[in-house]
Amino acid sequence: MSNRMWGGRFAEGPDAIMEEINASIDYDRKLYRQDIEGSKAHVRMLAAREIVAVEDAEKIAHGLDTIRSEIEAGEFTFSRALEDIHMNVESRLAELIGPAAGRLHTARSRNDQVATDFRIWVRDTLDTLDAQFADLIGALAERAEQHAGDVMPGFTHLQSAQPVTFGHHLMAYVEMFARDRSRMRDARKRMNECPLGSAALAGTSFPIDREMTAAALGFDRPTANSLDAVSDRDFIIEALGAASIASMHLSRMAEEIVIWCSAQFGFVTLSDKFSTGSSIMPQKKNPDAAELVRAKTGRIYGSLTALLVMMKGLPLAYSKDMQEDKEQAFDGLPSLSLALAAMTGMVRDLTPNTKAMKAAAGSGYSTATDLADWLVRVLGMPFREAHHVTGRAVAVAVERGVVLHKLPLAELQAIEPRITQDIYTVLSVDKSVRSRTSYGGTSPVNVRKQARRWLKALEREAARD
Ligand code: ARG
Repeated sequence: MSNRMWGGRFAEGPDAIMEEINASIDYDRKLYRQDIEGSKAHVRMLAAREIVAVEDAEKIAHGLDTIRSEIEAGEFTFSRALEDIHMNVESRLAELIGPAAGRLHTARSRNDQVATDFRIWVRDTLDTLDAQFADLIGALAERAEQHAGDVMPGFTHLQSAQPVTFGHHLMAYVEMFARDRSRMRDARKRMNECPLGSAALAGTSFPIDREMTAAALGFDRPTANSLDAVSDRDFIIEALGAASIASMHLSRMAEEIVIWCSAQFGFVTLSDKFSTGSSIMPQKKNPDAAELVRAKTGRIYGSLTALLVMMKGLPLAYSKDMQEDKEQAFDGLPSLSLALAAMTGMVRDLTPNTKAMKAAAGSGYSTATDLADWLVRVLGMPFREAHHVTGRAVAVAVERGVVLHKLPLAELQAIEPRITQDIYTVLSVDKSVRSRTSYGGTSPVNVRKQARRWLKALEREAARD
């Protein structure tokens, strides 16, 4: 049997494989709510413009509500023969209300319909993600304020570089996630235009009111070009692009948590709630949540790549290739959402082992720069020379097997006679971090200020909403 929604010119039904490759209902049923809202807005507009009779529009809107309840109650039978969510809903509407259902698709095509449904889904998902970013940023800033004065090693090349504070390290991620959040907000702003009324590709001859449907569906305005509106999927690509960058940040942080949890580092302990055990090694407590956050990055990049490649050769306007956009979005954005939730949970729950961090902060001659800076500040030595003198002091310390601040004054004076006892005041890790008061630096005062600034901003935002 040919398709009852579009089969007028067809004598035969589709091959089984055709149905298999063509049907999207297994995944686009997720759009039922957006589809029904879009259809209701459309039919109300048709009635307002006297394109369909008010009684028919009411019947249609009522029927659509019934369908929504059926789907939510699990009583709706989805059919692959009806391809997608749009035709499943419309076909059921005909069963429920009879021929009036056939008026719903006036001045509309599945092309503008799917573009509208999908934009609403992406927009709503971006809003959920926005709240999740705020949550994560808040959790990080709170922990940073608590640990603004706790010293840990700062690394470059994963080698001890200079002491920093744990709070400062967490605040670095606050900055990254805040940029991620603003990228998502930008994407949302750009995408919030309504394709409905673009019809198949060229617009329609019916006197529709696109401002009305756009406003009813929460869009800022209708899209300005019908071809563009049904052809482009840059809005989801942009969202996945921003999601990819965010997941890269999440993955770096997850990787650090994995490293910090190892016995060799021992900088943090993850709560039992975010760890798992091993079925063979009873002693194990594995940072699985962090590992999975790291792993989700692959799926999110995968979604972005799949869509970029799928879109790149398509002529205007709609091509069926574009049906493949949804599964990627439905995987990529929820993966980010899950990763954000897991990361926020870990940040709230983890226990920093401040003693272990501090001990490690002093290793690796991490205050060598402070020694060099002292030579510059107190003796007026050019930095390059001070660097050289300090290098020699480090070499002696390495040879003796002692940390810098345990090197006897006589040894230091053998290298540079003008060095005095005062040098020891800058060689401790606490002094080192406290001295780094330049804007953006690691000093506890700075970190506390930054953490409070973010927490205040979040509070103000919450009060506004
Ligand atoms: N299921 C389709 C999709 O997701 C809906 C649009 C179909 N349009 C068409 N001209 N066949 O892309």
